[in-house]
Amino acid sequence: MSDFYGESLFVLQSALDEMLAKIELVRKYRQIRGMRDPVEHYKGRIKTEESMIEKLKRRGMEVTVENALTRVHDAVGVRIVCRFVDDVYEIADMMSMFSDLEIIERKDYIASPKTNGYRSLHMVALLSVTLPGETRQVPVEIQIRTLAQDTWAALEHQLKYKKDVEGVALIQKELKRCADEIASTDLSLQTVRDMMGQSDIKD
Ligand code: GTP
Ligand code: MG
Repeated sequence: MSDFYGESLFVLQSALDEMLAKIELVRKYRQIRGMRDPVEHYKGRIKTEESMIEKLKRRGMEVTVENALTRVHDAVGVRIVCRFVDDVYEIADMMSMFSDLEIIERKDYIASPKTNGYRSLHMVALLSVTLPGETRQVPVEIQIRTLAQDTWAALEHQLKYKKDVEGVALIQKELKRCADEIASTDLSLQTVRDMMGQSDIKD
């Protein structure tokens, strides 16, 4: 099934383009007002057909494009990476202010980290995508985290591919320790920035 999305790929691509445009818009909106840029970098992706089909099956859903676009919340995903923890909430608030982007779910894994140490702010939103002759509500997943949280998540993700079970337990323990240190350092960095009274960081 190499053409699972078919014509719907156009809908997903439009949704992704729209999300990336919104992030840029927020940055420019703030820049014009002399506010700090909360975004260090960002990226987006459309879930591969292969992993979408796998997810539909795993969730016991019929493997249809309709289900892929309406019942799975991460066919379209964007990840926003920030320097500081308060920037995460700042950008989350600003992304919540678009009338064509309705936040339907918010999971704050920074305030309530997962047991493995994972920290990130997740939102699922319904984006109105206007196409010729129709408007579609497309679910999109927004992940927002700090640079350090992002590095941690990428490293932890690699564990999925590790088969040596004994080694894994030790790595998990070490990762958890790193996650807690990162949380503490992220807050310290923010405090130092505030002490310096710096509204923005220039590269
Ligand atoms: P799915 O797992 O995507 O089906 O959705 P969910 O309802 O469980 O949502 P959740 O917010 O827990 O996770 C969504 C996405 O966040 C995942 O697909 C990952 O990209 C990321 N994520 C969640 N938990 C972890 C974690 O423990 N480690 C890492 N590296 N990423 C995670
Ligand atoms: Mg999950």
